Amino acid sequence: MRACGAWVWTRGLGGHVKRGRLIVFEGLDGCGKSTQLRRVAEALRERGLDPVVTREPTDGAWGRRIREMAQSGRAVAPETELAWFFEDRREHMRDVVRPALEAGRLVLSDRSYLSTVAYQGARGLDAAKILADSEAEFERPDCVLLFVIPAREGLARVAARGGVAEPVFENLEFLERVEAIFEGLDLPGLVRIDGRRSEDAIAAEVLAVVLGQLDGLHEAMP
Ligand code: ADP
Ligand code: TYD
Repeated sequence: MRACGAWVWTRGLGGHVKRGRLIVFEGLDGCGKSTQLRRVAEALRERGLDPVVTREPTDGAWGRRIREMAQSGRAVAPETELAWFFEDRREHMRDVVRPALEAGRLVLSDRSYLSTVAYQGARGLDAAKILADSEAEFERPDCVLLFVIPAREGLARVAARGGVAEPVFENLEFLERVEAIFEGLDLPGLVRIDGRRSEDAIAAEVLAVVLGQLDGLHEAMP
């Protein structure tokens, strides 16, 4: 396992220093990231911490539009899909993530821009450009936990989970292309987690990584 980098960087014209921590949970549909995010948030609350828990696509207007499209089974043009995810993220960063980080909070996000790199890259768009554009515009996570599971197993879990199907994204051939892009990612702060193990074994590893990220968080606050 590669350790997350303890990134602190400046952004904006004023050279404003980011104070909170952003940890993103990524992976294929059914990889178990939402289960693990919930569990680690509970474990942190038991320790008296108060993480901000959030997700993309969001529950805002753009996120709802994306989910409706995904559930309808009628895909839009890849460029349109890409634009919707960017709009959703723009609002999410502005309204939720950035204010929380500026207040020194720990933010746990179910997906962020590496999903766009992998999923919209798998639609045939330029993954490297999506990554570069995203890094130029959005908050970079301090750490990304990438839950690794074969596409076929993830899909089987999604089917067993039930709930509303999203056929635009949940099909094997497409998810295998997404998997290949995730596999090729090599970025600072990216930690791969074997998602095929028991929930408990994974939860122990996730908690250790997240606690490691909190070192110095409070010292950094005003
Ligand atoms: P995601 O958010 O990545 O789509 P979920 O966390 O919703 O995935 O998990 C998908 C399904 O798989 C759920 O029904 C969940 O209970 C189950 N699941 C989660 N983690 C594991 C695991 N380690 N082993 C087996 N099943 C799991
Ligand atoms: P969601 O319904 O939250 O599913 P999951 O529980 O698997 O995260 O996510 C909707 C779908 O949107 C999911 O299949 C992944 C896809 N997606 C993209 O294609 N691009 C993106 O930028 C994001 C954030 C999600």
